Amino acid sequence: MAILDYHGHSTFTLTTDDGSRIVIDPFFDENPWTDISAVDVEADFIFCTHGHEDHFVDAISIARSTNAMMVGSFELIAYVQSQGIENAHPMHIGGSWDFPFGRVKMTIAHHGGMIAGAGAEGFTTSPAGLLFDLGPNKRLYHAGDTALTLDMQLLKGKVDVALIPIGDNFTMGPEDAVTAIDFIGPSVVVPIHYNTWPYIEQDPEEFRSLVGERAIVEILVPGQGSYEF
Ligand code: NI
Repeated sequence: MAILDYHGHSTFTLTTDDGSRIVIDPFFDENPWTDISAVDVEADFIFCTHGHEDHFVDAISIARSTNAMMVGSFELIAYVQSQGIENAHPMHIGGSWDFPFGRVKMTIAHHGGMIAGAGAEGFTTSPAGLLFDLGPNKRLYHAGDTALTLDMQLLKGKVDVALIPIGDNFTMGPEDAVTAIDFIGPSVVVPIHYNTWPYIEQDPEEFRSLVGERAIVEILVPGQGSYEF
């Protein structure tokens, strides 16, 4: 059983069948919606979709406190290595790698490439999505921050659970997220990247209505139970 916990915005912790503890897009201490502090996070792996502060700000501190392996784009990893993080694995768009818990592919996301951090001025990257293949019926797609893109059609039939931004303004909004669901065809959708700030206020129940029969919409609330799959 894989156990997925939502910590608000785009931040998740995931425990896989083999007991690996994965953090995705660590944004804890400045996240108005989170239920835990970065110092309390336990991790074996840290995955970041991109370098914006609200997906990356706590990555280095958690990497230091846990010695978890940091995984991200080549440029993001070059930056964290420049900050003294040695346990790190670079990837890039379109590439896959077998980790102990399963295979992960970096997918296309259309968004900004700045990396936020001290001394990061010389580093920019392509933002990404992440497709975790944890076994049959356990293929988890974290879309990262992205616009709706036709490239999502390439994911058709390859995703069981999709974590999809609905906030609008910085990423796709609810209507485009519904089109993304049509492109991808997941069984379960979890809305993310909404209600953190006024720019991205959305009603997840309205989103559920828009999705209709296309997929089950799981509205996760930090601290109020895990999603198991
Ligand atoms: Ni972003």
